[in-house]
Amino acid sequence: MARIAIVYHSGYGHTAKAAEHVRKGAAAIPGANVTLYKAEDLAAPDKGPWDELARADAIIFGAPTYMGSASGGMKVFMDAASKAWFTRAWANKIAAGFTVSGSLSGDKTVTLQQFATFAAQQGMIWVSNDQPSGYNATTTDFATAHNRAGHFLGLGVQALTDLPADQTPDRYELETAERFGKRVSEATLRWARTPAQAELA
Ligand SMILES: Cc1cc2nc3c(=O)[nH]c(=O)nc-3n(C[C@H](O)[C@H](O)[C@H](O)COP(=O)(O)O)c2cc1C
Repeated sequence: MARIAIVYHSGYGHTAKAAEHVRKGAAAIPGANVTLYKAEDLAAPDKGPWDELARADAIIFGAPTYMGSASGGMKVFMDAASKAWFTRAWANKIAAGFTVSGSLSGDKTVTLQQFATFAAQQGMIWVSNDQPSGYNATTTDFATAHNRAGHFLGLGVQALTDLPADQTPDRYELETAERFGKRVSEATLRWARTPAQAELA
């Protein structure tokens, strides 16, 4: 059994939708127990379910990209997590990250780099996105591509800015999110193995 926490911020619901699909994929792996947390419920170091995060085997960070980096709501949570940094509460947990933005690129890589740096500061083990670029050759189809924009540091999802969250991101972006969740679950289950389990494997 592995406990996986997903902490996310979403201003307008698109990242919340992506988070739900990361959760769905992660929870599809037997033995994974996955819980969603809103960043705004963890905005101060002494308030909110910090003890649950301390017990998790993995924490996945998710935020929209606003003005070229993680949204302010997510950054408030990240700054509040400095208490976990002081106590090394998250050291050696699995970490991964995802972001949603309006443009195909939209500087999402900056947000993923921000999450990877944050995880490294916390002493966590970063898990990448292993899905190949779905749209990078004449033989590939943009509309049905998974990992359409080719993000590997983490999951990058496009949500068109003039559509509500029940219409965007599209099916292929959400399937990409599910596959990413599965990968993090699988990595966590391998990493979280007790020495006794590892001997039997
Ligand atoms: C304040 C603000 C800044 C934004 N900055 C970017 C950006 O830098 N790059 C981009 O591609 N989209 C940008 N967008 C679009 C959002 O990333 C996009 O609408 C996203 O789906 C919002 O996610 P949410 O519904 O979870 O808040 C911005 C939107 C807002 C409101």
